[in-house]
Amino acid sequence: MEDIKPATEDLMNEHGLLNRIMIVYDLCVEKRAHFAEVVVLTEIVKDFIENFHEKMEETYIFPAFKGSKYEELIELLIKQHRASADLTSSIVTQAKNNDAAVFDSITSFLKMYRLHSSREDTIVFRKYRKLVDTAELRRVSKLIDDLEDERYGKNGFDMLLGRVIVVEQLLGIYIG
Ligand SMILES: [Fe+2]
Ligand SMILES: [Fe+2]
Repeated sequence: MEDIKPATEDLMNEHGLLNRIMIVYDLCVEKRAHFAEVVVLTEIVKDFIENFHEKMEETYIFPAFKGSKYEELIELLIKQHRASADLTSSIVTQAKNNDAAVFDSITSFLKMYRLHSSREDTIVFRKYRKLVDTAELRRVSKLIDDLEDERYGKNGFDMLLGRVIVVEQLLGIYIG
C-alpha cells in the first residue's frame, strides 16, 4: 500500500474536511448568521460528501459487511445518508431565503452526521481493513482514487479544502 493511500484513510480525510465545514456550521448556529456562507458550504456537502463520498462508501465499503454482525449498523448508516441529503436540501432552501429555520436544520444535520462519521471512523473503516485482504484493499483504494481524480482533478481535495478555507478566513476562524 506504499504507493497508494488506503481508501479508509482517504475517506477519513474527507470526514476531516466535513468536520471543518461542521465547525463553521457551529459558528453559524451560534451567531444565527452567515446565510451566504452556509449556501457555499452546502454546495461542497452536496457535491463532495453526499454525491461522492457517501456513494463510494455504499458502493465499495459497505458491501464487505454483508453477512457480518454489522449489517444493522450499515443499514442505519445508509438511512443517515438519505437523511443527510434531505437535511441539506432544506438547509439550501432556507439559507437562500434567509430563513432562521435553517439553524434548526443545521443543528439536526450536525447531530446526525457527528454520530454517523464517528461510527464510520471507529467501527466501519477499522473493521473493513480486517474483512478484506490486501489485494482487495489496494483494488478499491485505486478505484476510489481514480474516480476522485476523474471527478475533481489531481488536486481535487486541495481545491475543495481551499473553498472551505476561504469561508473560514471570511469568518475569522481560519487556523492552519
Ligand atoms: Fe457515511
Ligand atoms: Fe463517511
